[in-house]
Amino acid sequence: MEEDECCLDRGQGRRHCVGRVLWKWGFGFSSVRESWCQWQGLQVIALDFSKEQLHVAASRQQERTKPCYKNIEWVEGDATDLPFSHSSFDAATIGYGLRNIVDKKKSLQEMHRVLKPGSKLSVLDFNKSASQLISSIQDWMIDHVVVPVASGYGLADEYSYLKHSIKEFLTGDELEKLAKEAGFSEAKHYEIGTGFMGNLVAKR
Ligand SMILES: C[S@@+](CC[C@H](N)C(=O)[O-])C[C@H]1O[C@@H](n2cnc3c(N)ncnc32)[C@H](O)[C@@H]1O
Repeated sequence: MEEDECCLDRGQGRRHCVGRVLWKWGFGFSSVRESWCQWQGLQVIALDFSKEQLHVAASRQQERTKPCYKNIEWVEGDATDLPFSHSSFDAATIGYGLRNIVDKKKSLQEMHRVLKPGSKLSVLDFNKSASQLISSIQDWMIDHVVVPVASGYGLADEYSYLKHSIKEFLTGDELEKLAKEAGFSEAKHYEIGTGFMGNLVAKR
């Protein structure tokens, strides 16, 4: 999500936010999370249905020194049945998560339900490109860079599913359509990283 598109209030131009962000897929600390972390005073709820993933993420949180990392609460829960009340979040974001959810529409409906009217959702994931060239380069990168590097960490199996998973995923147009079907009033998909990644931004 770009700064100008941020759905949170900023007091006097400073990155000083109030409210809650639902930040799904708690595992790890990606750059998306780093940027959320700059928003002092923000309460972040991170959700995953895997206890183990949450445990790893929470232990990494403890390694961080910035006070804003104290604002993250880890919740075990299902993305298709969020344990939160209606209209209770100022923003929601998922990184490399929607692609892995079986019932994507239900998950989008749930995020729509818990977001406040007018607030936004950002979905970052691999892009299922309409360009044959981009898809071929993406496949090559996964086979020759991502999986070999992951193998070095004993994680080859965890990453070799990626190629198939991206092929089974939705294109940008399909994601926009699904978000609107789930209730979002606006949905726009941006190709990023030369089209290897994509970011869907939807407004409730
Ligand atoms: C590829 S990992 C996400 C990685 C993380 N976002 C990161 O960048 O490090 C996908 C995560 O989705 C979670 N997941 C898949 N389906 C889910 C569901 N229905 N509800 C909650 N979590 C789910 C898995 O447990 C897994 O941790």
